Amino acid sequence: MFERLDRLADDPILGMMAKYRQDTSEQKVDLAAGVYQDELGNTPVLRAVKAAEQRVHDNQKTKTYEGLAGNISFNVAMQDFIFGERHPALADKRIATVQTTGGSGGLHIVADVLRRANSAPVVWVSGPTWPNHRPLIKGGGLEFKTYPYYDAERHGIDFDGMLSTLEHANAGDVVLLHGCCHNPTGADLSAKQWDALVDVLARNELVPWNDMAYQGFAQGTDEDAYGARLCAQKLPESVVVTSCSKNFGIYRDRVGAASIVAADAEKAVACATHLANVTRTVYSMPPAHGAAVVDLILRDEDLKALWLEELGDMRDRINSLRRNLTNALEARTSTNRFSFIARQTGMFSLLGLTAEQVDTLREKFHIYMVSSSRANIAGVRKSNLDYLVNAIAAVL
Ligand SMILES: Cc1ncc(COP(=O)(O)O)c(C=O)c1O
Repeated sequence: MFERLDRLADDPILGMMAKYRQDTSEQKVDLAAGVYQDELGNTPVLRAVKAAEQRVHDNQKTKTYEGLAGNISFNVAMQDFIFGERHPALADKRIATVQTTGGSGGLHIVADVLRRANSAPVVWVSGPTWPNHRPLIKGGGLEFKTYPYYDAERHGIDFDGMLSTLEHANAGDVVLLHGCCHNPTGADLSAKQWDALVDVLARNELVPWNDMAYQGFAQGTDEDAYGARLCAQKLPESVVVTSCSKNFGIYRDRVGAASIVAADAEKAVACATHLANVTRTVYSMPPAHGAAVVDLILRDEDLKALWLEELGDMRDRINSLRRNLTNALEARTSTNRFSFIARQTGMFSLLGLTAEQVDTLREKFHIYMVSSSRANIAGVRKSNLDYLVNAIAAVL
């Protein structure tokens, strides 16, 4: 039977990471992997996470199954974190949340619930979007459409194009949005743009689905949730999928949450049963460890303060790398063509290089990024900045 299967091409991002690991050059630079790196190129375990893990380990009394919704205490803590403790939708009990296996698991689970709610859902995705969105949420009967988002010429958002396209979407269509730190472009909606977008979503009865993989990486944990909170406040229905991979640095522990904001409390209970029921058919229930750690951090004053400090350090480092890279590229190329890097947020930007230039950077200079020229800014260090800037200037 399996002789019918041919070897698949490598995943573009994971394949690039494998090539980077095999490269023996001392000058190699990794801007491909989607993980935070510190000045030494490490992705360390946060101190708050280490301390919480120790306590979880010491206090764990059983390893029996959790329920289908995962860790209930974690789900409640995540609701407060995502929406803010005093959000009206929480007071009205309109939000159903389940623990998921990372953001990816959440995206997949929500897609299945969407199919149950609507036999032929249309999901609008940004052009471009995270390449894994479609494979994760595709499946029988689901149709993808693309709304304009990034204007590569101006290195900014084509907001008029986005709104005018969504004005023509049909009632009940789902609009997948990046809550903050848009991947791969780094271009985020301003608060004013979110306000205008939510008016269009309301008028056309569209359902926003916010993918929040980087809450706390752009401006702050509350600021970054502006759009998701607004949707939950102003619209009868919305969805939020959250990943704890980046902001807690627990990538391999696979922790996330899927939240459906329903029209009323009764419908929220119904949605909770469907989220749990879908989970049962995919992986039965999520793993316990990482969610217990996040739950403890969010509920313990000292651990939370330490975590917020560490998260702030990661955010500040990325934002200052953005400024440094822009300044160095502008000085080296005597142009302002890279000024957008400093304006954007989160780990990623599209540098605006051709696929050939990206290949040359890899083959000649051992600098790795995705062929779209998506670069992980956290991979830049003081020690490789000049080398990187000279190499980019050389391939332009
Ligand atoms: C936009 C976006 N959504 C979701 C995810 C999924 O994250 P996780 O590793 O928690 O599955 C990522 C990870 O890179 C992402 O960039």
